Amino acid sequence: MSKPKVFVTREIPEPGLKAIAEYYEVELWDKYTAPPYEVLLEKAKEIDALVTLLTDKVDCNLISSAAPRLRIISQYAVGYDNIDVECATKHGVYVTNTPGVLTEAVADFTWALILAVARRIVEADKFVREGEWYRKGTGWHPMMLLGLEVHGLTLGIIGMGRIGRAVAKRAVGFDMRILYTDKYRLSPEMEEKFNAKHVDMDTLLRESDIVSIHTPLTPETYHLIGEEELKKMKRTAILINTARGKVIDTNALVKALEEGWIAGAGLDVFEEEPLPPGHPLTKFDNVVLAPHLGSATWKTRTAMAMLVADNLIAFYKGEKPPTLVNPEVMKVRSPGWK
Ligand code: GLV
Ligand code: GLV
Repeated sequence: MSKPKVFVTREIPEPGLKAIAEYYEVELWDKYTAPPYEVLLEKAKEIDALVTLLTDKVDCNLISSAAPRLRIISQYAVGYDNIDVECATKHGVYVTNTPGVLTEAVADFTWALILAVARRIVEADKFVREGEWYRKGTGWHPMMLLGLEVHGLTLGIIGMGRIGRAVAKRAVGFDMRILYTDKYRLSPEMEEKFNAKHVDMDTLLRESDIVSIHTPLTPETYHLIGEEELKKMKRTAILINTARGKVIDTNALVKALEEGWIAGAGLDVFEEEPLPPGHPLTKFDNVVLAPHLGSATWKTRTAMAMLVADNLIAFYKGEKPPTLVNPEVMKVRSPGWK
């Protein structure tokens, strides 16, 4: 047969595109912004495969109008809350993601936010850049921009998956105590290695100095952190989110920051992305904001593109894609075009 057609909804690193093009006829949406839903809906009807980002809404309407021709959706992200996976499975559509390859980059970025908030890096940069340091008239002052010392603190990790564990591993160097919540428990060896203790959410919130979220967005984790949870946190604690914005109730967080229930936050993800200018979260000096950059290193973004390609190529060859999200789909349809 001629090459199957794949629609790629945004520019991804070249090596991935090249690898895909060896097996598929690639159509690339080359604009910086996402294809509008209507465009995606139209495209989906004429393609065999789809490469999506978390900004593409792949709902049941789209999937059911694109199947049975559409057979695989290869998501360029570890999270796939933008895709109706249950519907895809029902229609025999394979869904893949990019776990593993971005773990270290996201853990690094989590730590960048922890340290930036604790040691007031962004405030300090502004202080120097805008001449405030100079105007103060002294090169050093015992009370200038004092922050929170991270060494030896208690780190609360909500969601001890690959990324949570990579964050925990880095915490060992800071001699921290770790409290974590997860459906699964680490092995006793790993708990010992990370100085980690499995606790309930209540204990984690009450005892942690830093709370970091590493859970996927699911109906269970939607607004997991709301008023009640924020009130349980220490007034000196900071909250970090590099997972999904919707895990936190934004209005509750704004209130918590306004009223000083917590000491600060580092946020890479938001309920609304892009965050509009003038959003209440932008008015706090003790909050560090980033535009969803967790996995944004050249190395990781390229590895993600290669994994997207590997999934499509395995499917093409009639093999199980390496990071298949919905293995049950294999009972509905075998991989490939035979
Ligand atoms: C990004 O947020 C991802 O899920 O990979
Ligand atoms: C992502 O890689 C995770 O499962 O934490």
